Amino acid sequence: MDDLEDQPSLWRYGSFLPSIPPDRRISLGEGHTPLMRLEVGGRDIYLKDETANPTGSFKDRGMCIALSMARVLGIKRVALPSAGNAGVAAAAYAQAGGLECRVYLPTTIPEAFVQEIRDSGAEAVLAGKTITEAGAAMSRELDSDWFNLSTFHEPYRVEGKKTLGLEIAEQLDWDFPDVVVYPTGGGTGLIGIWKAFQELRSLNWVRKPLPRMVAVQMEGCGPVVKALHEGQAATEPWPDPHTRALGLNVPAPLAGSWMLSVLRASRGTALAVPEEEINAAQDQLVAISGLPVGPEAAVAWRGVERLMDQGWIMDHERVVVVITGDDRRYG
Ligand SMILES: Cc1ncc(COP(=O)(O)O)c(C=O)c1O
Repeated sequence: MDDLEDQPSLWRYGSFLPSIPPDRRISLGEGHTPLMRLEVGGRDIYLKDETANPTGSFKDRGMCIALSMARVLGIKRVALPSAGNAGVAAAAYAQAGGLECRVYLPTTIPEAFVQEIRDSGAEAVLAGKTITEAGAAMSRELDSDWFNLSTFHEPYRVEGKKTLGLEIAEQLDWDFPDVVVYPTGGGTGLIGIWKAFQELRSLNWVRKPLPRMVAVQMEGCGPVVKALHEGQAATEPWPDPHTRALGLNVPAPLAGSWMLSVLRASRGTALAVPEEEINAAQDQLVAISGLPVGPEAAVAWRGVERLMDQGWIMDHERVVVVITGDDRRYG
């Protein structure tokens, strides 16, 4: 134990995390976010409010652990492609930890993301139409002096995301919800939350059945939804991806088959939301929660409404929706 483990941050779960000595740990106050209970149509729905993180999204959890671990490993320079929020978080944690950082972003990214990355002292490079193309540019340009922080190219971001699942269980008095709904791009949150639940079960800490996991994507970019419903073992690259929910514009996720196995093992599901429903869902969720929700979280909310209407989520079930990020850089 050290002082950080007594603070309201994800470091409280230090014993579930990779071993990182106290002097290598970076903290900007990430994690320990509220679980807000809403009553909607007589049901309890819980919003896990990740907008409360230091840079406004759940990406802070992963970058906190990955950049701290980079300091343990003696890494000096990190690079990643990003749809926006991960780049902002990586830049902030790299700056706090004294590391160099370079972020590759699609050219369609709103200027506020780029500005904030640069304000944190990182380099922002614009390349390609999607995170996949930005990642390809990064692979062409960078030599091995740079540590690759891309989604699932290293094991530590998902460990940070795991704390989301630990917190959800703790905030429900060490119980699992029946359903967790997550707006899905590359899948670090989906897989991290599931990993947390499995660890709690294997320790006999929580003995209840594991929750059903739900991935919500967009009709304009839904590789996981398509592969799940077609019974495929892996996702296929999505042609011509487009959506305003930038974090969900991931046409070829590296962990596609891993996400599919989580959804199947949990008896969960996946569904795609039409682009034209984002704005109304966002307005509605802001009005009922008072939170500054971003478009990705609004998509998850729309997914919950659909599943309730279809009876897939039943009246008595406890549902957690991950409000993954805010709208502050969308303009
Ligand atoms: C706000 C927000 N929600 C959801 C996602 C999707 O996260 P993941 O790629 O871990 O599935 C992202 C990714 O950029 C995001 O920024």
